[in-house]
Amino acid sequence: MTTAVTGATGNLGGLVIDALLRRGIAPEGIVAVVRNADKAASLSERGVVVRVADYSDSAAMTAALAGVDKLLLVSGSEVGQRIAQHSNVIDAAEAAGVGLIAYTSLLAADTSGVSLAPEHKATEERLTASAIPAVFLRNGWYWENYLGSLAQTVDGGVLLGAAGNGRIAAASRADYADAAAAVLTGDDQGGKIYELGGDERLTYTELAAVIANISGKPVVYKDVGESEYAGILAGAGLPDFVATMLASADAGISRGELDTDSGDLQALIGRPSTPVAEVLRAAV
Ligand SMILES: NC(=O)c1ccc[n+]([C@@H]2O[C@H](COP(=O)([O-])OP(=O)(O)OC[C@H]3O[C@@H](n4cnc5c(N)ncnc54)[C@H](OP(=O)(O)O)[C@@H]3O)[C@@H](O)[C@H]2O)c1
Repeated sequence: MTTAVTGATGNLGGLVIDALLRRGIAPEGIVAVVRNADKAASLSERGVVVRVADYSDSAAMTAALAGVDKLLLVSGSEVGQRIAQHSNVIDAAEAAGVGLIAYTSLLAADTSGVSLAPEHKATEERLTASAIPAVFLRNGWYWENYLGSLAQTVDGGVLLGAAGNGRIAAASRADYADAAAAVLTGDDQGGKIYELGGDERLTYTELAAVIANISGKPVVYKDVGESEYAGILAGAGLPDFVATMLASADAGISRGELDTDSGDLQALIGRPSTPVAEVLRAAV
């Protein structure tokens, strides 16, 4: 049994490989598909098979997936190009005879109004049309997404956002990675759809209170609305498309689109999700 993970030099993909090894998969049974071999030295050192293929390179991807039974397609990071790139990987998996594809999608990808959702929905549709059985790992937001602005939030005493009173059921990357590893090492996964989110379903007012608690400094939430928030983020130096995407995600939170009480994550990993305070504390 050979299991391949794309995006293996990325944060999530690397954690999935760690989790597969922890779950007893031998390193020689894991294929790390990477686009930059220089970043994969630590994987090779651990005995993981490293193969090089960009999502856009059909021939290289087909060769990289030769002999692979199960594939985790980690959604790419080049927003706007992902439908073509993911379709290309799925085409390659079909040509290579892969037996199962798990795909890292987005919570409620088929109905969400978050700007990132359409590429995930289109990828899910392409997978549904494939003869290869597919599993959708509909990941919620990462708690790590709040680390980049955490110092500023603590210093200024204000968590800025546009999530209103909506709740977010985020989780750590490591928890989503462990869930992916559970699916890849499990039986009868084809056709399953997992809506994945953590135990803590927080409003931003509650998240601000967590940050205040772990930093020992007062922090309050200030809601500025979607368009003003996008403008503030762009003004702070984020690329326009990232600012718009983050503000859109907050608007999605306000509508409950990044919230779930499915219990799917907890059932897969066999434990509660890692507390948000633990994820954020390391950075405070
Ligand atoms: N749920 C959330 O909150 C959230 C947040 C951010 C992102 N995401 C999604 O989840 C994915 C995984 O998250 P992450 O934190 O692991 O992101 P990440 O660290 O940026 O990893 C993305 C991985 O995809 C690889 N990749 C991107 N484009 C590629 C291409 N054209 N060909 C081959 N490989 C390509 C990257 O390769 P390199 O290592 O060479 O760059 C990297 O290994 C992201 O790509 C994104 O789709 C979800």
